[in-house]
Amino acid sequence: MSRTVLITGATGTVSTALMNALEGADVRLRALVRDKSRADGPREQGAEVFVGDLDDPRSLPPAFEGVQDVWLLTPNSPRAPENNMNAVWAARQAGVERIVRLSAVGAAHDAPNRSGRLHALSDRETERCGMRWTILRPLWFMQNLLNEAGDIAATGSFSLNMASARLSMIDVRDIAACAARVLLDDPDRHHGRTYTLTGPRSLTFDEVAGQLGLALGRPVTYLPVSDDAKRRALLGYGVPRWIVDMVEEYAQAYVSGWGTSPPTRSPTFSAARRATSPTSPATTPPRSPRPTVADPRLGDGVSGPSRSRFREGIECSCASVHTSAHVQSAHLPACRHTCRNRLLRRPRHLGSGRVDAGEGCRAVHLHR
Ligand SMILES: NC(=O)c1ccc[n+]([C@@H]2O[C@H](COP(=O)([O-])OP(=O)(O)OC[C@H]3O[C@@H](n4cnc5c(N)ncnc54)[C@H](OP(=O)(O)O)[C@@H]3O)[C@@H](O)[C@H]2O)c1
Repeated sequence: MSRTVLITGATGTVSTALMNALEGADVRLRALVRDKSRADGPREQGAEVFVGDLDDPRSLPPAFEGVQDVWLLTPNSPRAPENNMNAVWAARQAGVERIVRLSAVGAAHDAPNRSGRLHALSDRETERCGMRWTILRPLWFMQNLLNEAGDIAATGSFSLNMASARLSMIDVRDIAACAARVLLDDPDRHHGRTYTLTGPRSLTFDEVAGQLGLALGRPVTYLPVSDDAKRRALLGYGVPRWIVDMVEEYAQAYVSGWGTSPPTRSPTFSAARRATSPTSPATTPPRSPRPTVADPRLGDGVSGPSRSRFREGIECSCASVHTSAHVQSAHLPACRHTCRNRLLRRPRHLGSGRVDAGEGCRAVHLHR
C-alpha cells in the first residue's frame, strides 16, 4: 500500500520543489499549510491539504494522523526548535515511522550562526525521536540569488557582503531530488544518516557574475559591499532584524572560509546507502558513522556520508542546472521587479521548473 508523506512548509521553496519531485511517485501526498487561503498550490500538486500551525501543537494531530513519513521543514525563525519539537511530538502521537528533516550546512552547537545553532538543537532532537530519521544539510541555496534579480535586471550588478567567499551553492531542486530519493527508498535505508548537500563547484560571486553574464549575453558585475551596507539595504526592504542578523552571520562565516567544504571525493550518498544496514531502530539504536570531518568548522554533526557530494551520489536529472543555468539566468531579463518581502517570500515558482516562462515571473509578484 502507498505510504502517506506529510510535507511541512508546503508553500515554501524547498517543499514546493519536493512535491514536484514526488509527482507521479507511488505515495499519497499530504500538505500542512498554516493558512488555508494558501492551499491551492499544494492541492494543484496533488496533495491533500491540512491546516495546522507549527507554533501551535493543538492544531497538528489531524494532519499527522495516518501518516508514515514526515518531511520536516522549519522556517527561519527563533521559534524553529519549538516548531520542530511540536512536529516531532505530533508525529510520535500519530505513530509516524520516519522523519526526513531539512537542516542546514554545519549545524552545530558551536556554529558561527544562530540558524546553525538552532538547527543543531532540532537535529539532536530528531536523532533521538524514536522514529527512523534522516537529516539533510544543504549549503546556501542557489535560489537565494533570485533576491538579486531585480538589481541585475535594472543595473547589471548585484551587491552582497560576501567579499571573495567561495561556496558550493545548491539548487533547491537538487535538495528536493535528494529528499524524494530518501523518502521513496526503503525506510531503513537512510535511517540514522546525515547528508550534507552541496552544488558541484565552489564559486566566488565574481565567478557567479561571470556565468550570469555569459548566460545573459551582457556583463554582470558583483559588487562586494560591507556588512553595514547590506544590513541597511535589507532593513530598508522590510526584512526583519532577526533575519538580517542571521544572514549577516552566514555571510561573515562564509567569508571566513567556513562551510566551504573542499571539493575532494568523499563517501557518496550511494555508498552511504550501501553501508546502511536494514535494521529496525526499534531493536537496534541508530549508530553514528565515524566522523570524517575535513573542515572542523563544519561542526560536530558532520559524519562520513554527510560529506558526500550530492552530484556524485545521486543520478540527478537536473545535472545541467548546475552549469548552464546555474542561476536560472533565463528568468532574469523578464523579472524587472522583485518581491518586496524578498528573503521572507521567495518566488513560489521555483520548484515548478518553469523559471524561464512569463508565468513564473508573475508568480514572483504574488506577494507584493
Ligand atoms: N536559504 C538557504 O540558503 C538555506 C540553506 C540551508 C538551509 N536552509 C533552511 O531551509 C529552511 C527554509 O526553507 P525554504 O527556503 O524552503 O522556506 P520558505 O520558502 O521560507 O518557506 C517556509 C515555509 O514554512 C511555512 N511556515 C512558516 N511558519 C510556519 C508555522 N508556524 N507553521 C507551519 N508552517 C509554517 C511557510 O508557510 P507560509 O506560506 O504560511 O508562510 C512556508 O511554507 C530553513 O530551515 C533554513 O534554515 C536555508
